[in-house]
Amino acid sequence: MFKSSLYPFFKNMAFKLDAEVAHELTIKSMNYLAPWVNNRPSDPRFHCSSFGLNFKNPIGLAAGLDKNAEAISFLSYLPFGFIEVGTVTPVPQAGNAKPRLFRYPDEESLRNCMGFNNLGMDLVFKNIENANRREKILGVNLGKNKITPNELAKNDYATLYQKFAPIADYLVINVSSPNTPGLRDLLQDSGLREIFQEVALKRKVCARPLLVKVSPDMTHEELTSVVELVKEFNLTGIIATNTTIMPERGAGGVSGKLLFQKARLTRQYLLEQLKETPEIELIGVGGFGSFEDCLDFWSRGGKLIQLYSSFVFQGPKILHDIERQLGLEMTKRKVTSFEEFRSSLK
Ligand SMILES: Cc1cc2nc3c(=O)[nH]c(=O)nc-3n(C[C@H](O)[C@H](O)[C@H](O)COP(=O)(O)O)c2cc1C
Repeated sequence: MFKSSLYPFFKNMAFKLDAEVAHELTIKSMNYLAPWVNNRPSDPRFHCSSFGLNFKNPIGLAAGLDKNAEAISFLSYLPFGFIEVGTVTPVPQAGNAKPRLFRYPDEESLRNCMGFNNLGMDLVFKNIENANRREKILGVNLGKNKITPNELAKNDYATLYQKFAPIADYLVINVSSPNTPGLRDLLQDSGLREIFQEVALKRKVCARPLLVKVSPDMTHEELTSVVELVKEFNLTGIIATNTTIMPERGAGGVSGKLLFQKARLTRQYLLEQLKETPEIELIGVGGFGSFEDCLDFWSRGGKLIQLYSSFVFQGPKILHDIERQLGLEMTKRKVTSFEEFRSSLK
């Protein structure tokens, strides 16, 4: 059995290696481990639904860990409620120069300047087709190629949407990575509007839930304008947040505990903005590392959460810990469904 108790042993070895080498080896070996995963049935009390999809639980895997959709068969065995793969770009690209992934173990944080390294949409599509998803909800995170000028970015997003909509449960427009030069400029009103307009044409042909991922470095004014566009173009929701820039640490984007407060404030602002439109979803990501962090988000009206860094540092144990504490809290509050639990927090 691949039990979470094995993770400290695995981590001890992996953390002796360069961060990206360890990451690559882990992804490549994951599917071989799949048959040994202790695959427990999910607790029906944790089931929840959002944008027409039924999630086994509200905790998902954030984009960037399985960029090429190579480990879905393994990841779908773990108690994630949903998995997001990508960022995938139309044509393959190598990403930025190495080293480009750094750990801060004492702060349970990472810094990366990967730059959307991925195998490109055709291979990623094949990987998804060949994966055993075990009915897990699968999101695909879309990004433009580095060589595509911002004026033509809309075409990349439309092409990617068209490619993956038939095979994905939901799609994400990612314009918030700090590692592709000029990408975040697309978060401005005119850039996003053009992308949403172009993707809307493809969405008429194959309608899928569509979200946009925002940066924790945006001003309230910028966030408000994203909310307005999300409403105008009937997007499904917003994912908050991507990594943050901390130039004092070096280039790239910081994730994990060092990001938590900034991402939390962004989420709080967005939850306020979306109060009158509960049909627009806010998926929380950025620094979640404990049940208490999740509880904070749920008690402010949030529902779905994604993890990346805390999964790297704590392994599958973080998922078991959140489930166990959620179960205890639900019993204490005498509620039998996740929706009832959220209502009990108000
Ligand atoms: C190494 C690494 C690569 C990432 N790559 C992507 C990516 O390709 N696309 C994306 O939308 N987010 C990417 N992210 C951001 C995560 O999806 C997430 O938004 C961020 O790490 C904050 O969550 P966390 O604090 O739980 O790690 C990446 C993060 C890390 C650490």
